[in-house]
Amino acid sequence: MSSKIVVLISGGGTNLQAIIDACVDNNYPAEVVGVVSNKVDAYGLTRAENSGIATVALSHKDFDSRENYDQALIKKIDAFDADLIVLAGFMRILTPCFVQHFQGKLLNIHPSLLPKYQGLNTHQRAIDAGDDVHGVSVHFVTEELDGGPVILQAKVPVFEGDNSDDLAARVHEQEHRIYPLVVKWFAEKRLSMQGDNAILDGNTLPNSGYAAD
Ligand code: GAR
Repeated sequence: MSSKIVVLISGGGTNLQAIIDACVDNNYPAEVVGVVSNKVDAYGLTRAENSGIATVALSHKDFDSRENYDQALIKKIDAFDADLIVLAGFMRILTPCFVQHFQGKLLNIHPSLLPKYQGLNTHQRAIDAGDDVHGVSVHFVTEELDGGPVILQAKVPVFEGDNSDDLAARVHEQEHRIYPLVVKWFAEKRLSMQGDNAILDGNTLPNSGYAAD
């Protein structure tokens, strides 16, 4: 039976699209049952509608506190009865209450090689630091912002003269490869979070996540 996923977005939704595309394959063990956005005009909502997926637009501007917003968000997500919540460019800081409610079922993708560059403007920060390698991390979400256990990273080179758009495009390509793969591992029940660790096939993953040979 396929796992039910809810994807949370705030913007263009190219990672959402990569996951939707992966789900088209009958052998892929998951399906997107709902897409929720905190921005009513997020293009990702259109992507979902184009694929016949239920959407919810829940603007944070209609709430007087982060706590009240997250409580309403929990209700919307719970209505989908999902096995996994996938944050795909969902640009909100989550309350502890929200994170605890979905403990072990929350994945995020972050455009840096965590623990480097938590927070915003990661591409520009990598350029400014003179890094020659940058990348992306998929991790479980914990109460620490961008601090949960890493599952998988992908690296990209930084070339001389790159601007942050060049780097973002290169990172995006890798995001679209690794996020559907991690979702698949979770849906196959090969991946879980135990304590502060990510476990894949019974092995505790190192700090930089799974390393392919
Ligand atoms: C992605 O690059 C993702 O890594 C980043 O937002 C972008 C969303 O793109 N997420 C964060 O910065 C989270 N802190 P998309 O809407 O095209 O999938």
